[in-house]
Amino acid sequence: MKPSNATMITRPIPSTGESLPVIGLGTWQAFDVGGGAATRRTGLGTWQAFDVGGGAATRRTLAEVLRLFFEGGAKIIDSSPMYGRAEGVVGDLLTELGARESAFIATKVWTSGREAGIAQMKRSAELLQTGVIDLMQIHNLLDWRTHLSTLRRMKEAGQLRYIGITHYTSSALPELAAIIEREQIDFVQLAYSIDVRDAEKRVLPLAADRGVGVIANRPFGGGNLFGRVRRVAIPPWAAEFGCTTWAQFFLKFIVSHPAVTCAIPATADPGHLSDNLGADYGRLPEAAERQRMVKFWDSL
Ligand SMILES: NC(=O)c1ccc[n+]([C@@H]2O[C@H](COP(=O)([O-])OP(=O)(O)OC[C@H]3O[C@@H](n4cnc5c(N)ncnc54)[C@H](OP(=O)(O)O)[C@@H]3O)[C@@H](O)[C@H]2O)c1
Repeated sequence: MKPSNATMITRPIPSTGESLPVIGLGTWQAFDVGGGAATRRTGLGTWQAFDVGGGAATRRTLAEVLRLFFEGGAKIIDSSPMYGRAEGVVGDLLTELGARESAFIATKVWTSGREAGIAQMKRSAELLQTGVIDLMQIHNLLDWRTHLSTLRRMKEAGQLRYIGITHYTSSALPELAAIIEREQIDFVQLAYSIDVRDAEKRVLPLAADRGVGVIANRPFGGGNLFGRVRRVAIPPWAAEFGCTTWAQFFLKFIVSHPAVTCAIPATADPGHLSDNLGADYGRLPEAAERQRMVKFWDSL
């Protein structure tokens, strides 16, 4: 995972200069598991009844994923109240590992209405076991005008450090662009991968111009990208910029775009986590190499 004497590739958050390693961790599906305190704390009588899917053993594996994540020097973990039990699992494991201070916690508000939004964000902070959320994002732009003013007040009050907006479809890119143009936000989170490059046309240059950080979600197209290369060897020239696996090829393509702050691949597999963190070391592909990567991908 981590070559000896290697330094992690980081990017500054445009609005503050705080640096973030370019590879983070998504939690959708991967961290939505039972078997722990978060399940019991719900008070809805769901303990055991809803604790399906091999809870305790899966949690031990996820603890190993997070241990390797922090050992490797990575920081940003992305969650949402939309991801079932994920926030609670992340909160429990961060406490268990004593890793809150090492983490940059990003989560989201995903509801309509001011009071419902405030209540949901309070619950997220409880589940994540933190007084301050590092980044609060408006999930899929749901009721974004209402939440943006709440988020600004919370930021002023020190309850969160950064504000963002998210979506995952290319059809939402014009609305993301309009908000970046008119409002002051710290981050935009959007779908960007070697397979889905629509954000390159307008939103990525706009974010760079306006000093807005970019978090790339669905870096593996939800895992579908691996299906396309199942019988394809990684081209030997990818080793010139330090990629020995397809995961690293996909991730280095994303984070070598100058507007991108980080990518957040989801995994519940410690081996995959180590593989993904490998993309945070060595050099990044340059412009001509990026073009070669795209040409290769489009030829498959
Ligand atoms: N609207 C939004 O705000 C929004 C929308 C979508 C996603 N997101 C965020 O973005 C994150 C990432 O997107 P995603 O979860 O949809 O999908 P993704 O990260 O593109 O892909 C995840 C899939 O890739 C597999 N994988 C991970 N590393 C691998 C490796 N090295 N080799 C082979 N397979 C690997 C995972 O399986 P294993 O567990 O087996 O590794 C999983 O099936 C989400 O978890 C979420 O935090 C946000």
